[in-house]
Amino acid sequence: TIDLRGRSYLSELDFTAAEIGHLLDLAADLKAARRAGTEQPRLTGRQLALIFEKTSTRTRCAFEVAAREQGAATTYLGPGDTHLGGKESVADTARVLGRMFDGIEYRGSAQSIVADLAAHSGVPVYNGLTDTAHPTQSLCDVFTMRERSTKPLSEIGYCYLGDARNNMGNSLLSMGALLGMDIRIAAPRALWPAADLVATCRAQAERSGARIALTEDVETAVRGADFLHTDVWVSMGEPAETWKERIDLLLPYQVNATTLAATGNPDVAFMHCLPSLHDDRTRLGRELRDTYGLTGLEVTDEVFSSPRSLVFDQAENRLHTIKAILVATLANRPGVVEG
Ligand code: CP
Ligand code: NVA
Repeated sequence: TIDLRGRSYLSELDFTAAEIGHLLDLAADLKAARRAGTEQPRLTGRQLALIFEKTSTRTRCAFEVAAREQGAATTYLGPGDTHLGGKESVADTARVLGRMFDGIEYRGSAQSIVADLAAHSGVPVYNGLTDTAHPTQSLCDVFTMRERSTKPLSEIGYCYLGDARNNMGNSLLSMGALLGMDIRIAAPRALWPAADLVATCRAQAERSGARIALTEDVETAVRGADFLHTDVWVSMGEPAETWKERIDLLLPYQVNATTLAATGNPDVAFMHCLPSLHDDRTRLGRELRDTYGLTGLEVTDEVFSSPRSLVFDQAENRLHTIKAILVATLANRPGVVEG
């Protein structure tokens, strides 16, 4: 039996494929129990610290609602709310939080911070997004693909288009490599994941049977894919000036009706972790429209708003998958939820 109590979730490759499979099964049980009204709280009395050094809608809400539905309490520490890294070292902050909390979620820039929090707090630490990885999102994404598809994971093919050097590019590559999936990355070479991560994932693929293709050619990358994923072209923390350079580089990798048609798969589905710049109903969307004459950046509104789009199922699944991580690592007993 798989017992994840006490474990941190900092990046996908800290886990085995069987352990991720356990989290996926637990998330499915928890989702079904919530729908049936039979969910049993297994985290009664647990205390969770949620540190966000960057903004969030989905991740914060998923942690808060998941914790509450399972009987745990949360303390939200927003950008600039703590001494972390300013007046107090990460190690000292970790020691303090570890005396009060049973688990710590952290969103920020450096991956070294989640590693330090885990090393010094003595409690499970969850990576709620760093510049390097977004592992709670990739767990949700593979859950959503598994839920949608009739194929086993090993036969599912997906293509990630756009900025593949960001947290989502890294995380979707790592997760697919771990689980033995068919992963294609379509991106300009300058925005491929770092060579050391690609080498680690290729080594992982040798063991898992994953197929990994990195290419600048969209047509070959998307052909036969079951799912197309993309993400914003400029991530949180990157300077606004990056937009011009990224638009020049990434426009050929936009997900639009032509990209969907190029898969040759009438059932292909579109996925995006969100938030997305698919229209001009946001301040940034209007700025980009006025500056570059573009409405719809990494994905067109036509695709985003189409029946092929799974983005809001994905958003809901953040709740169930994050709840699975919390229950698996913090509950009194291992195993699946009682119905
Ligand atoms: N996908 C995701 O992490 O969204 P938030 O930034 O809203 O948390
Ligand atoms: N790559 C994006 C993901 C947001 C959930 C960012 O880091 O801003």
